[in-house]
Amino acid sequence: MPITYEHEPPYSVGVLIGSLSTESINRRLATALMRLAPDQFQFTEIEIGQLPLYNRDFDVDYPPVARDFKRALADVDALLFVTPEYNRSLPGALKNAIDWASRPFGDNALSRKPSAVIGASSGAIGTAVAQQQLRSILSFCDAPQMNAPEAYIQMKPGLITDEGDVTVESTREFLETYLARFLEFTTRVLTVLPR
Ligand code: FNR
Repeated sequence: MPITYEHEPPYSVGVLIGSLSTESINRRLATALMRLAPDQFQFTEIEIGQLPLYNRDFDVDYPPVARDFKRALADVDALLFVTPEYNRSLPGALKNAIDWASRPFGDNALSRKPSAVIGASSGAIGTAVAQQQLRSILSFCDAPQMNAPEAYIQMKPGLITDEGDVTVESTREFLETYLARFLEFTTRVLTVLPR
């Protein structure tokens, strides 16, 4: 008998990019992932740069920009975090966005949201430390996260063009595998924990 899923694909995926830089290599990586994504995924960026610094005084009445942000998170089936590493951690802008997402207490937009992390750096350990710290935060925020494959991308010149073309075949194949596994993971989570 065929399995019927509570929630059939296509799945919407919100992409959070940890860098606000116009020249961001992580934005380039995100563009590549959006281009390589299987048809069962629909990716949209959820922007974080417009959010003010979180302060719990806002909890009684979130400003419109933060309400819109939380609504965008609520509307998607899954989340993909594409982040640089800043000083062996995640960028403050991304942590700030997660703080907004997680509050007010009892209204945590990350809870039960299937998530995956990936990042690019010019350095050889390609965001590994930032990603570990992000994983710890996502665990606390009750977001089920894909454990494997891990993806630490060392961005060499020309590896991904501004348009998101991946010029090295082995990297392109790796990213396709990563996305296929994320689709499997999302399907599994949404089957067990329907929205
Ligand atoms: C960096 N960079 C960096 N790289 C790394 O691998 N580990 C690190 O801890 C840091 N720390 C760090 C701090 C700050 C404040 C900056 C601006 C940069 C280098 C970083 O990987 C490089 O600038 C990337 O290009 C940043 O990603 P985006 O913004 O281009 O996506």
